[in-house]
Amino acid sequence: MAAVSITTQFLRRPLMTGAVAASSRRLARAMTQHIGPADARLVVELGPGTGVFTDALLRLLPADARLVSIELNARLAAQLAATRHDPRLTVVHGAAADLAQAAGGPVDAIVSGLPWTVMPAGERERTLDAVAAGLVPGGPFTTFGYLHAAWTPPGRRLAAGLRDRFGLVERGPVVWPNVPPAFVYRACSPRPAAGGARRADAAEGARLDAGKWGAPPARP
Ligand SMILES: C[S@@+](CC[C@H](N)C(=O)[O-])C[C@H]1O[C@@H](n2cnc3c(N)ncnc32)[C@H](O)[C@@H]1O
Repeated sequence: MAAVSITTQFLRRPLMTGAVAASSRRLARAMTQHIGPADARLVVELGPGTGVFTDALLRLLPADARLVSIELNARLAAQLAATRHDPRLTVVHGAAADLAQAAGGPVDAIVSGLPWTVMPAGERERTLDAVAAGLVPGGPFTTFGYLHAAWTPPGRRLAAGLRDRFGLVERGPVVWPNVPPAFVYRACSPRPAAGGARRADAAEGARLDAGKWGAPPARP
């Protein structure tokens, strides 16, 4: 069977795939290097696609850790399961919003390749809620955005959705060797889940800043 690529899946299902090409290894490194995977027992990956982040995570995780990768596209999920023979990996065909069920317990870190800017709003909000609820205290969440979309309304909604739910949100430097260039958000310290209170809090306390990663890219 011919390999399924992100490009062909983008042509068939643009709104589910949300990317014209798989992420680069440089972006995979930026997504995984700050999550402390050496101590992790259970890591969840959302939207693994063809497995660029999956492979980076498997290289970093200890021998007794588990990685649960949740993919909505049945063909990509089947391909990932068939081509990775690592006993630490479980590929789940399903929606990222159902991560609690797929993980079966508190998660040490969550890494997302989801196409947030093209996701339906309700699905985006449910998934971000599930991420914030699923992490152990102090557990990091990393996700990426494309540089060209950062200042668009969908890009801003993702940033606001992160600030609503997490006490600390950092944005990394641009990863230029990626098509298109992208940057990584890292979030931790989920806020209490009481909807209104959490969102009111967010306006005051959230930080969307350069953190340790240096200044965010200048607005074009
Ligand atoms: C932008 S691609 C990224 C693929 C891969 N992580 C990479 O960086 O190359 C987004 C992936 O998320 C999957 N996806 C989209 N919506 C999803 C959802 N609600 N739950 C799980 N996976 C989803 C798509 O099928 C696709 O494989």
